[in-house]
Amino acid sequence: MVVVAALAALVATLVAVLIPWLPEPASEEMDRIVFTYWFATIICIGIFALVAAVIIEAVWAFRVQPDDDTDGPPIHGHTGLEVAWTVVPAILVIAIGIVSAVVLSKNADAGDNPLQVKVFAQQFAWRFDYEGDVQSDVLVMPVDRAVEFQLESADVIHSLWIPEMGQKQDVVPGVTQEIVITPTRTGSFTLICTELCGLGHSTMRAPVRVLEQRAFAAWLEKQGGEDKGGGGGGAATEPRGSAIFASAGCGGCHTFTPAGTDAQVGPSLDELTDPAMVRQSIVDPNAVVTSGYQGGVMPQTFGETLSDEELDALVNYLTGKEAE
Ligand code: CUA
Repeated sequence: MVVVAALAALVATLVAVLIPWLPEPASEEMDRIVFTYWFATIICIGIFALVAAVIIEAVWAFRVQPDDDTDGPPIHGHTGLEVAWTVVPAILVIAIGIVSAVVLSKNADAGDNPLQVKVFAQQFAWRFDYEGDVQSDVLVMPVDRAVEFQLESADVIHSLWIPEMGQKQDVVPGVTQEIVITPTRTGSFTLICTELCGLGHSTMRAPVRVLEQRAFAAWLEKQGGEDKGGGGGGAATEPRGSAIFASAGCGGCHTFTPAGTDAQVGPSLDELTDPAMVRQSIVDPNAVVTSGYQGGVMPQTFGETLSDEELDALVNYLTGKEAE
């Protein structure tokens, strides 16, 4: 029985170790999550080995001999065994619960000086706002510093997940959710929407870059400088149609050759000429639905989330009249 148990434990251990079930961790939170996985997995391997050994031993040792038609002896249970198989699993499950609770609480703790980033999710794009009026379509984070995210959704439920960083949080309209991520290595990752949020769900991704702290500070400063422009208004601050096209996530659903997008959830935006029609289709997408496409798919919130100037710029961009 000991041999069978050792064999079962060996097989289960090989399956756990040799197959890369989890991505290479890139955050403190992911390190803790991986620890929790291994804590539970090791317990499971022990239980599996014990159960497999007892079953195989029972089937083998107590099998019926040829021509043995007698009934087995009546058995009324074994109090000691029953107490053991109740108490031991209870202790193990409570231990897993305690470890998980400690990890959850540590993973929610942003520490003394977290970087604050606001995340806006909308069908089907992400936007990241930093202190000092900096907006970005790319999530840029400094290494070895906790980042505290405030998550908001403009329409339906989305969910933020960077696989290598473990943390995952639903983004619920009307509620501000929080999540903490502390990157531990530099590199490029992908933020994935992991809540089915509509036809463009699978395209709702954003690039993630983790930089050295100095490089991050330089990036933030550069973005701040670019975004500010003259406070008195003027040509320099006019919104760019191409930038709005990108940040509003139009390319998640529509083909538009100048922007290099080829999605086919909604109709192609190539060869649009009528500014009034384009504007109406952005603000009130269900007024006229292109034949062959479904109504009610495109967000109806752009009339509120985009300013008049931004709408003008987007319409000009789509109709090929963007001022150079
Ligand atoms: Cu947003 Cu799926």
